Amino acid sequence: MANSQQTAPFDYVIFGATGDLTMRKLLPALYNQLRVGHVPEEARIIGTARSSLSREEYINRAREALERFLPAQHQDNALIERFLKKVHYVTLDGTKTDHNWDELKAVLAQSPEDRIRVYYFSTAPQLFEAISENLNKHGFITAHSRVVLEKPIGTDSASARAINEGVSRFFSEGQIFRIDHYLGKETVQDIIALRFANPMINAVWSNEYIQSIQITAAETVGVEGRAAYYDTSGALRDMIQNHLLQVLSLCAMEAPADLSADSVRDAKVNVLKALRPIPEEKVASETVRAQYVKGALNGVDVPGYLEELGDTSNTETYAAMRAYIDTPRWKDVPFYIRTAKRSTQKVSEVVVTFKKSATALFGATPAANRLVIRLQPDEGFGLALNIKNPSSANFSLQNGSLSGKFAPADGSLIPDSYERLMLDAVRDYPVLFIRRDEVEAAWAWVEPTLNAWAANKAPMATYAAGSHGPDAARQFIASTGDEWHEDMAD
Ligand code: BG6
Repeated sequence: MANSQQTAPFDYVIFGATGDLTMRKLLPALYNQLRVGHVPEEARIIGTARSSLSREEYINRAREALERFLPAQHQDNALIERFLKKVHYVTLDGTKTDHNWDELKAVLAQSPEDRIRVYYFSTAPQLFEAISENLNKHGFITAHSRVVLEKPIGTDSASARAINEGVSRFFSEGQIFRIDHYLGKETVQDIIALRFANPMINAVWSNEYIQSIQITAAETVGVEGRAAYYDTSGALRDMIQNHLLQVLSLCAMEAPADLSADSVRDAKVNVLKALRPIPEEKVASETVRAQYVKGALNGVDVPGYLEELGDTSNTETYAAMRAYIDTPRWKDVPFYIRTAKRSTQKVSEVVVTFKKSATALFGATPAANRLVIRLQPDEGFGLALNIKNPSSANFSLQNGSLSGKFAPADGSLIPDSYERLMLDAVRDYPVLFIRRDEVEAAWAWVEPTLNAWAANKAPMATYAAGSHGPDAARQFIASTGDEWHEDMAD
């Protein structure tokens, strides 16, 4: 019997199907959704890329990817073979009008006319318009088609606008699903749940009680095989413009009227538009950028960024920014945003530091309350409170914490963000995708910083691989009376 969350039959056509994202994330996501009964038997996955491969060769690559990237407890050989029967491959250069489109047409023609088609562009963004144009020319865009655009949407405001314009010549805004995989993380949606489902949190969610909010995404990985892309991007474009500004908008938005795509996205875009601009002359004091140099991670020596790259570079692998949101709710509350490659450990989290009690309690000074929302790994939350120190004869205080997990109650793993988002596109459910104005507002805010950095108007600090980041970042946050949350066990 069909699972009640099963989608209608679909054909997923992936451009960039031999790439890392498809192998590491997209195919495992669709497999997992088949495993839990959300993918109907008729569904098909049609990979396309320029590499000349037979269907069998592609299926072999897909099988290897599933065996490599699926968690062991989700691997089931019979199910993998059932999944692979849905997989097709067409050698195709989507940017060339007179390429192998007939073969794609023949594969698509095996499905009824009204079959839902999702075109997933997992390619460089400069190709999005040309692929859309060719899909249109060959009559592949039907009323039941949608397109998923992988990030990055451009490298600055102008290129983002050009990409958005280009794709919208062929797809309506309602058919365009701009993915930001952070929005598909179940724990990122916990920000909404914690804020709005808990009056005791909602009541203190403003500058009256909150001292500062830190949003961090740190990783232990360096740039590895992605140096060619990463060196043209850097930490600000790769993580802050999209993922971390999305997390910031969820933390700061006013309550949406409902969970419709427009209500939620209106609420988020209002935050992005209220971000106080950082003019170029303030970039040196309001941001920090840095590159890792050689160091050690878990006792293993790792090379510096320039050594990995084998070249000189002005690209940052660490970025921190201080943001203010010019609304009554957030007046004077600093939001610190930071991201790093080759940090001490992988962690994404939101840390809300509340204002300290203005008065001592019977001579004891209370510490600031703090709410930590751990997005990954070890997904959960912790609330630091002051409790009495039982081993002191005098009245003194110590830290007591309340904590909880975001994990599913049945012990199963939290689904990967792509699982949910890929099927949301099939279901025509755009709430967790980014609207055009959000992308453009986010670029508009980061652009002066990008420009100032490109013109070397702010110094490039260094930090040892395997450390928390540069000293400059500690001085930067201390200048507004805060300190980074660095002890992840705390
Ligand atoms: C991607 C970035 O968007 O997000 C990568 O391009 C980064 O550089 C990745 O590693 C991090 O995602 P996650 O889900 O592992 O935090």
